[in-house]
Amino acid sequence: MSEADRTSYLRRRYGGSQSVMDRRERRFVGEMLARIGPVARVLDLPSGHGRFTPMLREAATSRLVCGDHNEKNIAALLAEEGDAGTPIDTVLVDLFERLPFDDGEFDLVFNFRFFHHIFDAARRRHVVAELSRVSGRHLVVSYYDDVFVHRTQKRLWKHRKHRRTLPMVPRPQVHAEFAAAGCRVVEDRAVLPVIHAHRILLLEKR
Ligand SMILES: C[S@@+](CC[C@H](N)C(=O)[O-])C[C@H]1O[C@@H](n2cnc3c(N)ncnc32)[C@H](O)[C@@H]1O
Repeated sequence: MSEADRTSYLRRRYGGSQSVMDRRERRFVGEMLARIGPVARVLDLPSGHGRFTPMLREAATSRLVCGDHNEKNIAALLAEEGDAGTPIDTVLVDLFERLPFDDGEFDLVFNFRFFHHIFDAARRRHVVAELSRVSGRHLVVSYYDDVFVHRTQKRLWKHRKHRRTLPMVPRPQVHAEFAAAGCRVVEDRAVLPVIHAHRILLLEKR
């Protein structure tokens, strides 16, 4: 999923019915950011084309690091972001490796729309452990819960580019994996309850 320009990527990816998801995701993230208040150092990983960069620049008071393993996506993000606001560092990072950051280096670690691309439980636990390690305080992480309506719709809907299955992890299991990595759940919110599997977690290091 790379496209040179952020605006056209977001228009294609979040046009039509997906615009409802996009609006609700931005709203809920905004409410979570307001709840935790200003944070000095923020990591957005994977940042993709920078859908949340403007919001995170506003939340971060001293530093925002945007990481992704696709350099075209990072280039698209930088092309749309000016110099005004909290400075951005960008970094090419593979989430399945050890992250190139110190323990507790960030006050907020933001990981959005990545978990439902992890097909292997051991890899998912590695990502949980690494995101938790580099956060000193807060995490916002999204994932797909195991939701019958959404799972069934995926199986039945026939579309050329459509995946029949996506990793959906039951909510208690996600909570248990973060608890094992030293995080407590502050809030866990469905983006579109009952219909869609996507949920947004606000976590805090214990
Ligand atoms: C669905 S996009 C989400 C981007 C952004 N968080 C958002 O919500 O708009 C997933 C991103 O994960 C990145 N990605 C995929 N595998 C990765 C990996 N192993 N390490 C780091 N980034 C990865 C892709 O390049 C892509 O930009």
